[in-house]
Amino acid sequence: MLRGQKALVTGANSGIGLATAVALGRAGADVVVNYVFGQEAAEDVVRQIRGFGVRAFACEADVSDERQVVGMFARMLEEFGTIDILVANAGLQRDAPVTEMTVEQWHKVIDVNLTGQFLCAREATKEFLRRGVVPEVSRSAGKIVCMSSVHQIIPWSGHLNYAASKGGVLMLMQTLAQELGPHGIRVNAVAPGAIRTPINRSAWETPEAEAELLRLIPYRRVGDPDDIAAAVTVLVSDLMDYVVGTTLFVDGGMTLFPGFATGG
Ligand code: BGC
Repeated sequence: MLRGQKALVTGANSGIGLATAVALGRAGADVVVNYVFGQEAAEDVVRQIRGFGVRAFACEADVSDERQVVGMFARMLEEFGTIDILVANAGLQRDAPVTEMTVEQWHKVIDVNLTGQFLCAREATKEFLRRGVVPEVSRSAGKIVCMSSVHQIIPWSGHLNYAASKGGVLMLMQTLAQELGPHGIRVNAVAPGAIRTPINRSAWETPEAEAELLRLIPYRRVGDPDDIAAAVTVLVSDLMDYVVGTTLFVDGGMTLFPGFATGG
């Protein structure tokens, strides 16, 4: 489905990023596996992807650091020649009630989750614009998927920095989509709900915690990274060529106000 396309996935050595990088490789894309810590895990992902007969390499870069992001794109262009797909996935949480939240916690989350997406989108866009559409490769001049969250619309007490960053991602994505649409570039977001990854381990690791979490999910199952990876893969393919500026919620219904199933 993505044969001949070159993809970069940030934060690709764990969780949703890992599953997405592997899925894009399985669909035929060559993949850059970005990571910031955990080189071994990243090399492992690279090996898995190469097993599909496509190219892959690991690239260390902190997405919140402009110089490192510029360096990463330079390396990708050198090794792969171009970029067709950016999955701006890298993200983290630093949770605290508002009165205890330090400005460092605030900045860290905004820097990685929001500024990181801006920097990567900016660099990818430069190459999309330079190259334009190559019809044998894809109908569009480039695809960007911003990894968002149900918390781009659901307020989340104790996670002010995170919710604000994802609210920001929504507007980042929509504004980019509006600005870049005329150039044949498609920008969209995927908004996962509760997915079983290291970021939210405490929410599912005990049976009690998982039962509590399931009350927030009408479909009554915690998601897997592969649920998100599949959504991203289809979204960046030409099957979805007319989808521009949209958020695809992949959340088992978490955004359906499950409290109202009985209340209200
Ligand atoms: C957060 C997880 C949380 C999920 C649903 C995600 O964006 O990173 O920690 O479980 O949203 O609330």
